[in-house]
Order: sequence, then structure tokens, then C-alpha cells
Amino acid sequence: MTAPDILGRVGILGAMDAEISEFLDHAELLEHVEWRGFDFHRIRLEGREAILVKCGVGKVYSALVSQHLIDTYLPSSLIFTGVAGALNPAYEIGDVVISRDCMQHDVDGRALGFSRGNLLYTDLKVFTAEPSLVSAALSAQADGHKIHAGRILTGDQFMTRDEINHHRYLIDELRGDAVEMEGGAMAQVCAVNGLPFVVVRTISDRADGDAVHDFTRFLPVVAQNSFAIVKHILSV
Ligand code: ADE
Repeated sequence: MTAPDILGRVGILGAMDAEISEFLDHAELLEHVEWRGFDFHRIRLEGREAILVKCGVGKVYSALVSQHLIDTYLPSSLIFTGVAGALNPAYEIGDVVISRDCMQHDVDGRALGFSRGNLLYTDLKVFTAEPSLVSAALSAQADGHKIHAGRILTGDQFMTRDEINHHRYLIDELRGDAVEMEGGAMAQVCAVNGLPFVVVRTISDRADGDAVHDFTRFLPVVAQNSFAIVKHILSV
């Protein structure tokens, strides 16, 4: 399947205003519909129709809004755009990571014999992103930063140095390259619905002792890098 085939109408989610504002500034707004306090914007960008929505922070919001978007607007794929904390030491603030795959790092049924990240009583663990969307994203021209393909870990925690010290498994066991709070939940919803997805995240911090400061400082600036990549995916 090539990228254009699965980009008939794409759903684009971001967690926070700063992660979707660039889209609203640059796209043509076709329609706005409010549902349960969430604003669904039907937009045209790069000649393609898309549904853009801010879902809020965390896995439940991400899943809730993803499912409503799928049921209501029948998209052919979903893209999550925004920022993430780096786990991979080679990643710099401002670099973009494209999800080769996603896992939910806070799923832990080890007491019942499941490996970490394995959704209990299922065979779901690693959610593989749509390869044609990953390739399309990687073919974008980066302006002063790198674009990586990597593993994105999702959980309902903002990771700083303290958390990371207690959670070495993010890197040692789960082999995560970046950490955020929504992508893996959207990926799970896409798996249930049989829909392709990709997550596009710009590094806002290193999930370390400076994470809160860096996240606050860089969020509004670096989210633009994700926008440029998503725009490029739509143009391919
Ligand atoms: N999103 C951006 N930075 C993050 C971090 N350090 N932890 C979780 N989600 C993030």
C-alpha cells in the first residue's frame, strides 16, 4: 500500500494547543464540530482533507478521541503529532522521531506471567506503524535537525530524572527511543479498528532533571517541526 492510498482522509491528533496550532494557522478550515468539549476541525492541507483535533493529555483521552474520530469521520489513517522526551542519547532537542512502533510502558501484568507492555490476556504488545507513512515521513527535508525512526513508549507519566532512575526498563528492557503520553493508546485503537497509523514527535526534552524546564520552554517552538513532517506526509 502506498502512502497516497491510505491518505484519503486522515485524522490528525495532538494533545495540546501548541501541538495543533500550526495546523490551524496554515490549513483551510472547512468545518468545525464540537463533541463532548473536543473541537473537531475538518481542514484542507496540501490538497488533502484531514480531521484535526486536540485530544488532551494521556492515554484515555487519546483513545476516546481516536475512536470517536474513526466512527464519525471514517479516516483511512491516523497521525499523532506533538512532542516527546528523548530516551535515546543520540536524539537532540528539536529532532523528530517517527514511530517505527509504539508500546505502552505502563502496562504491567508481570505478576500474572505477562511480559511488561503486553496487554493482559491478549497478544498485543508492540504496535507497528504503517511502513509507507514512516517512509513518507523520513523522506521529508529536515531544516537543521535530524529525523529518526524509533520506538515510542507511551504511559500516563511525565518522565523526569527521578522517574527514569526508577524506570531503567524503558531503555534496557523496552528499548524505547522516546517517551510520551498518547501515541501507544491511539495505536491500540487503530489496531482494534484495523487502521494504519504513525506517530510524529519532536523532542522537547531529555526526560531528565531539566525535563520540566525544557518541555515548557521548547514545546511551542519545536512542535513546528512535527507540523512540517506531517505536512510533508500529506504532500507525498
Ligand atoms: N512529552 C514530552 N516530554 C515528555 C516526558 N519527559 N515524559 C512524558 N511525556 C513527554
